[in-house]
Amino acid sequence: MTAKVIYIEHNGTKRIVDVPIGQTVMEGARGHAVPGIDAECGGACACATCHVYVDEQWIDMIGAASSNEIGMLEFAAGVRPNSRLSCQITVTDRLDGLIVQTPESQH
Ligand code: FES
Repeated sequence: MTAKVIYIEHNGTKRIVDVPIGQTVMEGARGHAVPGIDAECGGACACATCHVYVDEQWIDMIGAASSNEIGMLEFAAGVRPNSRLSCQITVTDRLDGLIVQTPESQH
């Protein structure tokens, strides 16, 4: 089972990826060569280089960030209210159609 995740680059390039349920939004990007997500710590919530902006219409569905994630987001550049770390978002069937935008830079 997969869910579609739509990754939109800073320049507007859009990629629709079938991400296996249970993988994270970060893993879905890395597994399909989606640029703009560095994920230097490999998903341990310890680097903030998997920063994405979650489309407003999906923010409630994603659920709240953990205190760990909120703390790590302080190290990301260009943080906005809809910023999240994509390694902390697990894809479920309810997230089919999720839209995330990658920031201009992860540093
Ligand atoms: Fe490092 Fe997400 S991959 S915080």
